[in-house]
Amino acid sequence: MSSAVKRAMPPTTVAVTGGPKNVRGVVLKTPIPGPKGKAVVDLDTQYLMTSTKTAPVVAQSAKGVWVTDVDGNRILDFTSGVGVLGTGHCHPAVVEAVQNQAKELMHFAGTDFYYEIQARLAEKLAKLAPGKNPKKVFFTNSGTESVEAAVKMARWNTQRPLTLGLIGSFHGRSMGALTLTSSKPAQRRRFNAYTGGGVHIPAPTCYRCPYKLEYPSCDLYCAKILEELYFNTVLPPEDIAAFVAEPVIGEGGYVVPPKEYFQVMQRMLKPHGILHVSDEVQAGMGRTGKWWAIENFGVVPDMITTAKALGSGMPIGAMVFDAKLDYTYQGAHSNTYGGNAVGCAASLATFDVFEREHLLDNATKQGAYLTKRLKELQGKYDCIGDVRGLGLMVATDFVKDRTTREHAPKLRDEVEKQAYQRGLVLLGCGRSAIRFIPALIVKEPEIDEAVEIYEQAVGAALKATGAN
Ligand SMILES: Cc1ncc(COP(=O)(O)O)c(C=O)c1O
Repeated sequence: MSSAVKRAMPPTTVAVTGGPKNVRGVVLKTPIPGPKGKAVVDLDTQYLMTSTKTAPVVAQSAKGVWVTDVDGNRILDFTSGVGVLGTGHCHPAVVEAVQNQAKELMHFAGTDFYYEIQARLAEKLAKLAPGKNPKKVFFTNSGTESVEAAVKMARWNTQRPLTLGLIGSFHGRSMGALTLTSSKPAQRRRFNAYTGGGVHIPAPTCYRCPYKLEYPSCDLYCAKILEELYFNTVLPPEDIAAFVAEPVIGEGGYVVPPKEYFQVMQRMLKPHGILHVSDEVQAGMGRTGKWWAIENFGVVPDMITTAKALGSGMPIGAMVFDAKLDYTYQGAHSNTYGGNAVGCAASLATFDVFEREHLLDNATKQGAYLTKRLKELQGKYDCIGDVRGLGLMVATDFVKDRTTREHAPKLRDEVEKQAYQRGLVLLGCGRSAIRFIPALIVKEPEIDEAVEIYEQAVGAALKATGAN
């Protein structure tokens, strides 16, 4: 494709409150990657460690849900940097806050000394956390570090060795969090992820129930088996410090538990003093239409872990906890960069944007619209076995057969490829799903454009894989 290929549909007009009105739409001037993109991919491949690269999309600049690559292609981003850019790429209010803070004070070791914006951000998080008990905050630089902080605090308080997780969840890759992470064997293989105290039970994955039961007649056997079997055999509850779970399982396939799941779990955990950590690194910060995804399930956890969308792209995370769990002496846990001044400024600006632009409401509204559009596709294509999610975290699960629900990972990978080649970037999740996790500023015309490209990608992938 050498000459400019403008997509047939009309350009999208996006009005970001407080920002300029921009006329946009996917524009492809070269294949993806183009020559400049290819050079960057080659350099990267030579010098960067092998990690989790998904698509050869090489960004030059970005705004809202749009990325311009180094070859001048304008690409629709429905990954938002793996759920980081809740306010969209380079929101002007966040950029301004970062620039101003960088001029004033970049870093002063917020765990050792004091500055007001760190305390202000902690106050904001403490007040937004669910439940009546007073809350406190520990700042981190990433999701995995927030989970580490929660696991350490749970162990310190209970003086118990184990943490209980759900099979198929993702909690990060540092050694403590990794003992809980279990969404793919590649994450654990060869690392000896077994000695860190993480133990697991099957997750409430209703679409492919591990016990082959049906909700609601299952009576939540996947939860109740903890008390019936595990507590009475391999997992004495007195040895478990905390239950660590994503309210909506992210990397593991956008699995939404039944609405009463966490209530049933808490009823079994609380009598034994087992703490509940809600890992909201992906599902939190408004993505499900509520500040915290656990609020959809009518329970109050003891700790919340967050990162990603908290800083709109600046690396900041936090662990928000019931104040009664705080350490009683100095030095038990700390770090160097946690609560970094620029990260805090970005985060406070992020909260302002969320409130000013009503992004929680937009997540609910656009999430419902996106789900409706994807369900229409499910009606047309048998290979889409399931459309599931909450708010603006929605996935389509590809199957070889609708009855057996056998995973179709090759088809999923091909759809992802066909989509980015058409200017729509997406990420997989679970064994055969593709997730839609756009910025929370996304508007209906952008969803329409994404779904239109997605449908073309599904059709092309079916042909390419011979699945149809
Ligand atoms: C639920 C959850 N917890 C923890 C993490 C780890 O976050 P990070 O990659 O910032 O360490 C992730 C990352 O995707 C996540 O989705």
